[in-house]
Amino acid sequence: MKKLSVVISILAVAYISSIITGCEEAEWNEPKVSYHDDDESHNWGMNCMDCHRRGGPGEGWFTVAGSVAKLGTNEPYPNATIEMWEEIGVGSPVAIIEVDALGNFYTTEPINWGDGLYPAIISQNGERIFMPYKTMIGACNSCHFNGEGVSAPPIWAK
Ligand code: HEC
Ligand code: HEC
Repeated sequence: MKKLSVVISILAVAYISSIITGCEEAEWNEPKVSYHDDDESHNWGMNCMDCHRRGGPGEGWFTVAGSVAKLGTNEPYPNATIEMWEEIGVGSPVAIIEVDALGNFYTTEPINWGDGLYPAIISQNGERIFMPYKTMIGACNSCHFNGEGVSAPPIWAK
């Protein structure tokens, strides 16, 4: 009888933990990349990596993600393009990420950060503006938007 109850409790533990892992979809790094005109994203202007990181609740662990605003406003600017460059304007970008219809961009693709990369934005009229510094932080909104510790204006496009 004692043996049986031990077996039952082991089974119960296994069952409960399978329920728990089943709920945590974000245990798995689901591949996700933004595209022009796509509208799957949300939370414009928030720091995506607060949630979309290993162990976080968001689906997909983003390597680069953030939001774009219409120049001088706090409104989303859709369908721009983000690039990551080793040197400003030399050679070709190491990553290209399309901004979606909601003004958000994100990717789970691995990024070769080297000793840092220069982000750039291309607006719908084709104008490219570089960030004047290298970064090794792909959580663009952690500096560029509303959250705590903001040190830069939004990523603008016109
Ligand atoms: C407060 C936590 C949180 C923040 C911040 C957050 N997300 Fe999410 N995100 C989630 C969760 C949880 C899900 C999965 C459930 C859902 O779809 O709402 C998700 C799902 C997604 C999906 C997948 C939707 C689908 O249907 O497959 C995308 C794309 C996404 N987020 C993009 C972003 C972007 C881009 C940002 C930043 C601008 C961001 N998220 C900020 C929590 C967050
Ligand atoms: C550590 C903080 C920080 C991070 C992280 C960061 N930026 Fe920046 N970014 C800045 C600062 C500061 C400026 C200069 C703002 C100014 O012109 O005064 C800037 C400028 C820019 C500009 C040029 C804006 C303009 O109008 O001149 C772009 C584009 C840009 N960042 C894109 C990005 C992207 C994309 C990411 C994510 C890959 C990113 N930034 C991550 C701090 C950051």
